[in-house]
Parts: sequence; structure tokens; C-alpha cells
Amino acid sequence: MAAAAQTVLISGCSSGIGLELAVRLARDPQKRYLVVATMRDLGKKKTLEEAAGDALGETLTISQMDVCSDESVTQCLGSIQGGEVDVLVNNAGVGLVGPLEGLSLQTMQDIFNTNVFGAVRLVKAVLPSMKRRRRGHIVVVSSVMGLQGVMFNEVYSASKFALEGFFESLAIQLLQFNIHISLVEPGPVVTEFEKKILEQVASTEFLGTDPETLHFFRDCYLPASRQLFTSVGQSPGQVAQAIVKVIGAARPPLRCQTNMRYRLMSALKALDASGSLYVHTAHCLLFRWPRLLSLGLRCLACSCLGSRVQPG
Ligand SMILES: NC(=O)c1ccc[n+]([C@@H]2O[C@H](COP(=O)([O-])OP(=O)(O)OC[C@H]3O[C@@H](n4cnc5c(N)ncnc54)[C@H](OP(=O)(O)O)[C@@H]3O)[C@@H](O)[C@H]2O)c1
Repeated sequence: MAAAAQTVLISGCSSGIGLELAVRLARDPQKRYLVVATMRDLGKKKTLEEAAGDALGETLTISQMDVCSDESVTQCLGSIQGGEVDVLVNNAGVGLVGPLEGLSLQTMQDIFNTNVFGAVRLVKAVLPSMKRRRRGHIVVVSSVMGLQGVMFNEVYSASKFALEGFFESLAIQLLQFNIHISLVEPGPVVTEFEKKILEQVASTEFLGTDPETLHFFRDCYLPASRQLFTSVGQSPGQVAQAIVKVIGAARPPLRCQTNMRYRLMSALKALDASGSLYVHTAHCLLFRWPRLLSLGLRCLACSCLGSRVQPG
């Protein structure tokens, strides 16, 4: 074990990006990290245990942590040797799609409780010790939807915008304490996340939504979203690799988009400060030129782009 191994606390490691990241860091050839991989339901730990292999109990330990519970967070931090976290990765997150009229305020607040206040709760818990030691790195798994809105993802997107604003603001103060913040912004990633969203859609009636809006949601948005995942979706391993790079960087970036293919859409927003170019293009692609959108996604998925499309 390297003398200065850093303790990395990761939320949401039962599947997807968190699981991949935990394993990659724990298997670091230079043994630079001691990973505390957490999940809210330890009944799901088998997949991580198997993926971790002989790193389990050596450079990786698994702990229970629900980011929505003060008690659970306190208990988890209390179980870390010395109680000191060098790198915090706020990864736990939940999605929500659908017409606004058919979603309850409680459902929306639950998304913010996990995605926003869950991350804030963890930061409040580790910050005093990081400030005292004058070092630390807080990584936040945001999303390209934290940079630009996407139809029928209003609440999820708002939660990621909230993270972007919160952590960009905090980054300025924390530099004075030698604590870095990095917002990692994946595009679509093929994980349980999409499956959970499709289950949510299947089990919601979206009562109170007019038929025209429901038609747009089911017949325009959902097929386009499905195609987006199959054409430009990254693997959780690709995103985890980008995060490993961010954690190992001597000067960690504030922002890191992981999907070059998606940058074409982000560029539209950057090109026009009024915001109209992005909104009108997205509207036209979904409502007027769906065939062009489909063709564009097929082109982006084309293997001839493959060698140029790496996690950024
Ligand atoms: N997949 C995408 O397309 C995509 C794109 C951009 C950004 N992201 C972000 O990437 C992050 C990871 O998502 P993923 O794609 O890897 O999806 P995932 O496989 O569904 O992983 C999400 C993780 O968050 C955990 N979680 C949810 N609520 C929690 C809570 N209250 N306390 C602790 N853990 C909780 C889940 O645990 P359970 O198993 O118990 O539910 C799971 O371990 C999320 O922040 C997501 O917003 C995903």
C-alpha cells in the first residue's frame, strides 16, 4: 500500500457509474486509493463484491449510506478510519421523465432530495475536515442536462442545473482552502438508470395531462430518447474512466464532459447567448424534422467516428 493512499468515498455504488468507478479506483495499479463504496441497500452488494475481486477488504470496503438520511451519512462517516475523506464522489442520483402535469410535487421534491440535497448533505459532512486539513477534492456526477434543458426532463434537468450552480459557487471559496471541485457531465450512459426511468414511465398514468402532450411524450420524445441511448450512449466504464482521470489530475478541471458525440448539442447553446438557437433547433428536430434527428443520431453512432470519440 502506498504511504499516502487517499480515502475516496463514493455514493450510489450498487450499479452503473458508481460501481465501475469504485472498482477501477480500488484496482489502481499504484494503489493510490482506499475506496469506501457505499449504497443505500446492502442487499445489492453482491455485484460489486464480485467485480471488486481480491480488492475487496484490501483497497475497497462496502458501507451502507442513504444520501437522503442524516443518520445514515453520519454512521457511514463514523465508520471510516480517522473519519477523513480525501475525495468525495457524489454519484447517487435518480431520474424522472414525463409531462409536468402528470407528476406530483412530492415526486419532484424526492428527485431534488436525492440529487441535490443528498449531495449537499455529504459535502456538509466532509467539508470541516477537508478545510482543517486544507486539502480535498469533491467530484459531482452532474449531466449534460445540467448545462441544457431537455424536453420532458424538466425536473431532473433542474436538479442537475442546481448542482452546477451550487458547486460552481462553492468552488470559488474552496480554492482558498486548496479544495477542488469537479463537475463531471456525461451524456446518455447505458446503466440501470434508463431501465428505472422506463419502469417509472410504465407505472405512471400521468393523470391530468392533455392528449396532445401525452402524444408528444410517448410518440416523439420516448422513441427519440431510446435512439439517443442506443446511438450515442456511453458505457458506465467509459464515464468511470473519465472520472478516474479527473481524480488523478494535478489541477482538476471544474467541468468535464465525457461524451464528445454530445458536444455538438452543447455547442449550440455556447454559440448563442440568447439561448434561442438551442431551443429552436431542439424543437425543430423533435417536432418538425424527426427523420433528420434520426439520421443525425445514426451518423453519430457510425463506427467511423469511434476512434475520435473518447471520454473528454
Ligand atoms: N445513465 C445516464 O444516462 C446518466 C447520464 C448523466 C448523468 N447520470 C448520473 O450518473 C449518476 C449515476 O447514475 P447511473 O447512470 O450509474 O445509474 P444507476 O445505475 O441507476 O445508479 C444510481 C445509483 O444511485 C443510487 N441511489 C439512488 N438514490 C439513492 C439514495 N437516496 N442514497 C444512496 N444511493 C442512492 C442507486 O441505488 P439503488 O440501486 O438503491 O437505486 C444507484 O446505486 C447519477 O447521478 C445520474 O444522474 C446518468
